[in-house]
Amino acid sequence: MAGQNHNPPEHTEAWRRLAGHRRQAAGLHLRDEFARDPGRAQRFSLGLERIFVDFSKNLITGETLSLLLELADQRGLDKKIRELFSGHEVNPTERRPALHTLLRTPDDGIQDTHVLSDVARQVRQERDRMFGFVRKLRAGEVGGATGRPISRVVNIGIGGSDLGPRLLADALSEFHREGIDIDFVANIDPFDIERVLANADPETTLFIIASKSFTTQETLVNANRAKRWLADNGCNDSGPHFLAVSGNAGAVERFGIVGDRYFRIGDWTGGRYSIWSCIGMSAAISIGEDQFRQFLAGAHALDSHFASAGFSANIPVILGLIGIWHNNFLDIGAHAVIPYDQRLERLPAYLSQLVMESNGKSVAADGGKVGVQTSQVIWGGAGSPAQHAVFQFLHQGTRASSIDFLLPLDSNHDSKQYELLVANCLAQGEALMQGSTDAGEPYRRFDGNRPSTTILYDRLDPYTLGMLLALYEHKTFVEAAIWGINPFDQWGVELGKTLAGRIAAELAGDEPPGSHDSSTEQLMGRYRSGRA
Ligand code: F6P
Repeated sequence: MAGQNHNPPEHTEAWRRLAGHRRQAAGLHLRDEFARDPGRAQRFSLGLERIFVDFSKNLITGETLSLLLELADQRGLDKKIRELFSGHEVNPTERRPALHTLLRTPDDGIQDTHVLSDVARQVRQERDRMFGFVRKLRAGEVGGATGRPISRVVNIGIGGSDLGPRLLADALSEFHREGIDIDFVANIDPFDIERVLANADPETTLFIIASKSFTTQETLVNANRAKRWLADNGCNDSGPHFLAVSGNAGAVERFGIVGDRYFRIGDWTGGRYSIWSCIGMSAAISIGEDQFRQFLAGAHALDSHFASAGFSANIPVILGLIGIWHNNFLDIGAHAVIPYDQRLERLPAYLSQLVMESNGKSVAADGGKVGVQTSQVIWGGAGSPAQHAVFQFLHQGTRASSIDFLLPLDSNHDSKQYELLVANCLAQGEALMQGSTDAGEPYRRFDGNRPSTTILYDRLDPYTLGMLLALYEHKTFVEAAIWGINPFDQWGVELGKTLAGRIAAELAGDEPPGSHDSSTEQLMGRYRSGRA
């Protein structure tokens, strides 16, 4: 019921018991827990196909987990998961379901249920169209205006219309098809697109305009710049050089992209959940149909696990509940994602959007004010460079951050060098947990007891990456379900967009100067005069 939070998490019995348990567990040190229980690592680990998750270095005991599982029951998590998968309106402020799991369901697994039949048809159709286009382009059968085959693809999009395909193209570059360059432009800062255009040949470049809304200022400004660049370089028929992925057919047509160059995404695909749709087009061109299907299949395997495994063996459920424990009961407000895998360097940025745009909320789904902390700050970077930049904070800072380490078991590189990477990853987890009891100057001491999860995977292939991204999506969903918030809207980005439009019009002289605070006015004045 709008405006009233009738069922806040802190009113559940399990939440109260967890608060009591926190007081009892205050003196717990992981070092002692490992010493006391030789089976701890096995007891607090779960595997699924190609991934293995060791969550034993988190600040939990068996009792913590039992209480968290009770909390999941009392918050109706089971029902909420069923609603997600069955096309229920899980995004009430936009009156929509969230059907990203359907996007990765194989054709023969899509059930044409009453709720989903139209959508199911659309998913199959657009997926087939995307792969048809990908096959043709990779075969050199898609030409520009002069007929020369397209050999460079530039994805213009931002947020979820950029971070997902960019992550995939980067992480799976070993599957990249030689001969077709893939570039990404997101920033409204002209440097971004000019850098790409400087290397591009107008005859052989295709721009993919990826925007669910097709109203996003940054994307439209860059798309129009691309159009002007084509014209400036003698291309009067820009049609063959554009493709749009969007839910806004009218705006796409007004831009001049028509017919088979328009790929549709449904309004039930959230931007940060859209990599599974035709928004993944640029990545699909890079890695090809078979590998992209593998990516979808990996995510689908994780979906099946999430939808069917009992909660005590359900990896996203367990990781989500541990996140709640750290965040809400131990006051750990930050979570670092540290892949010991250079190819996943962009994963922290991807997950920052996924988690913080989904769960950075202070109003509950029923309209009431949320009375507990919601999203942690998600940050991170690739290990081992991160060790030489931010690990001081992780080891000795006064604010704790929980951590996910990600580590492939098989890199295709020289094994001795690779082993050093493995050693560094494992050493960090151990050091953060154990600390150091050696006496010495205070500044040399490490308290330890800093929580981390280690996610191992056999190798970084499309299937595994699909599993990993779906795992984080569902972990995010679990946390939202416990808090009672809607993870699928993002109203918090609107005010800044409105003000930017107003300030832009004033700077351009299209609008008379408005009234701003003295700081904003001073900064606008300095911009106008060109003086820092
Ligand atoms: O402003 C936030 C946001 O709406 C994100 O949720 C989304 O991923 C991004 O902007 C891009 O939106 P669009 O795909 O509509 O251009």
